[in-house]
Amino acid sequence: MFRHMKSDIQAVLDNDPAARSKFEVIFTYSGLHAIWSHRIAHACYNRKWYTLARIISQVSRFFTGIEIHPGAKIGQKLFIDHGMGVVIGETCVIGDDVVIYQGVTLGGTGKEKGKRHPTIGNHVVIGSGAKVLGSFTVGHNSNIGSNAVVLREVPENCTVVGNPGRIVRRNGEKVRDRLDHTQLPDPIIEMLREMQQEIDRLNDKVKSLSAKSLDGEDQHEQLVLAKEEK
Ligand SMILES: CC(C)(COP(=O)(O)OP(=O)(O)OC[C@H]1O[C@@H](n2cnc3c(N)ncnc32)[C@H](O)[C@@H]1OP(=O)(O)O)[C@@H](O)C(=O)NCCC(=O)NCCS
Repeated sequence: MFRHMKSDIQAVLDNDPAARSKFEVIFTYSGLHAIWSHRIAHACYNRKWYTLARIISQVSRFFTGIEIHPGAKIGQKLFIDHGMGVVIGETCVIGDDVVIYQGVTLGGTGKEKGKRHPTIGNHVVIGSGAKVLGSFTVGHNSNIGSNAVVLREVPENCTVVGNPGRIVRRNGEKVRDRLDHTQLPDPIIEMLREMQQEIDRLNDKVKSLSAKSLDGEDQHEQLVLAKEEK
């Protein structure tokens, strides 16, 4: 439990340019206090001291504004910046080197039982106010934008923004926005275009057929004239 304290402090120094010294980090970063309280609460939870675990968790919430259920599994070097309003559910699993900003919910949709909270991969950033709801995985190195509402699996190396969350970047490349309503195909225009093409095609056919039949009539007239001359 205590062996992670050094790397917890380092995570703050690495991720927050405003953090000046270890002393300041230890005494003023409520995200750090919440994580340390959680480690104690989680140890109690693992020993099935559920009520004590919940009491520790709620006391921590009172002082930090961060509610982490004692059952949540948290990896190394989690950095919770500012923290107020963060909620992390019971069956949530968080990998290493994750950054979480204020107002983030890692919760359930209210419909699932058992594992009902997300699994967050390593090196994931979850922006302020984002809601990640359900028992799916957010892949390693992905970013969840501020205020995104993520309801389904996020592959590795992706950026997800908006409500409902959609992937806008994958492996560093921009992904075409299929929900850009100004770019949506118009089925009526498409149908009219296809009909116009069909009419043009039929027109051409009629013209060529009538040209052929005119040729045929000419030949017929020429034959009649030739017979009359004879
Ligand atoms: C998502 C985020 C991590 C950036 O990730 P990124 O992979 O570098 O993505 P980009 O900046 O290239 O943005 C990709 C697209 O998503 C859009 N976008 C980025 N963040 C967004 C958000 N929160 N909501 C909606 N759209 C967003 C960008 O405008 C861009 O759109 P475009 O392709 O039309 O230009 C960052 O924007 C973010 O939200 N960080 C959280 C920061 C935070 O919470 N800070 C709180 C400090 S107190």
